[in-house]
Amino acid sequence: MPNFYPIMVAFAILMLLLLVCLVDAIPTTLDGPFPPLTVSLDDSGFRGNAVDLPGTDPRVRRMVNGFEPEQISVSLSTFADSVWISWITGESQIGEDIKPLDPNSVASVVRYGSLRHTLSHEATGYSLVYNQLYPFQGLQNYTSGIIHHVRLTGLEPGAQYYYQCGDPSIPAMSAVHAFKTMPISSPQSYPNRIAIVGDLGLTYNTTSTIDHMSSNEPDLIVLVGDVTYANLYLTNGTGSDCYSCSFPQTPIHETYQPRWDYWGRFMEPVVSTIPLMVVEGNHEIEEQAEHKTFLSYSSRFAFPSVESGSFSTFYYSFNAGGIHFIMLGAYISYYKQVQVAGKRPGKCR
Ligand SMILES: *[C@@H]1O[C@H](CO)[C@@H](O)[C@H](O)[C@H]1NC(C)=O
Ligand SMILES: *[C@@H]1O[C@H](CO)[C@@H](O)[C@H](O)[C@H]1NC(C)=O
Ligand SMILES: *[C@@H]1O[C@H](CO)[C@@H](O)[C@H](O)[C@H]1NC(C)=O
Repeated sequence: MPNFYPIMVAFAILMLLLLVCLVDAIPTTLDGPFPPLTVSLDDSGFRGNAVDLPGTDPRVRRMVNGFEPEQISVSLSTFADSVWISWITGESQIGEDIKPLDPNSVASVVRYGSLRHTLSHEATGYSLVYNQLYPFQGLQNYTSGIIHHVRLTGLEPGAQYYYQCGDPSIPAMSAVHAFKTMPISSPQSYPNRIAIVGDLGLTYNTTSTIDHMSSNEPDLIVLVGDVTYANLYLTNGTGSDCYSCSFPQTPIHETYQPRWDYWGRFMEPVVSTIPLMVVEGNHEIEEQAEHKTFLSYSSRFAFPSVESGSFSTFYYSFNAGGIHFIMLGAYISYYKQVQVAGKRPGKCR
């Protein structure tokens, strides 16, 4: 009889390795359905206060020249055949005598295709700047770089695409990045993993949260409010863990808008590849002159609002395979009769 023993041992080791791999990896939605699981909070890691990344950290500093694109991100449109690409060009300004850039001075162009070296399709979009103004003695005003949003259409579901963005006439085009569209919308079709995160901020703990999230290779990131915490800062760049404790006397709740640019730069390596869907939280209110609110939030991100029939940045919907997401921010009335200034009343679709 032939000796099967070494083969059996090898087989056993192989099965063990497979088991370790299976146990180690976080299961995907395709491995489910799973019974609901509740894990109680382990608060042993909460020691003292989180420390913000300073503006000098290389991960948040502006590394581009002139009107080269930075803070590049991908977000989904309502259906799998379309995505939004967003980025910023030019330098923001903070202080006195700020001069807003002309958003039309830099074009919004994305070249894309399914082959890295043949970006045969081209789409154009729109651009804007926003200002954060404080009509109070001693406070500084901010004006953003040029924010670009371009919608790509006619994409295949579940497919990889390469793209570069910028203004080819300067020329100032970005490096080539890649993203994957969502799978088709049907009952057996789902993204593998979706990361859901909130209260992100830009602390050293944010960096470990993002590292952990990225190591699990999500197909989509859903950020459910409280993005940069720029509103824990005064306009002179001094921050605190508790705004009202440290700065009880300010004439308005100030913000330090450059922290949004820091956040956009820090996130670019992740969100230029993995689509990010955001909805607003209280830290995005950021009231300024003339009682304007949510300007940074509404300007910097692309939302599938028009595509999903909402016409507001505060609520919208989209599909991710067989999942229909309904994003409902808490800062708008959902009562049908209420007409919000400049917005159409909420309509159910
Ligand atoms: C948060 O970051 C601080 C350093 O800023 C570190 O000491 C602490 O361990 C981190 N907490 C967690 C839960 O990672
Ligand atoms: C900021 O803008 C407001 C509103 O236009 C203005 O009243 C204020 O003087 C400006 N502040 C500075 C420092 O330029
Ligand atoms: C910013 O303003 C606060 C409150 O007036 C002050 O305590 C702080 O020293 C200022 N910081 C800078 C960098 O000017």
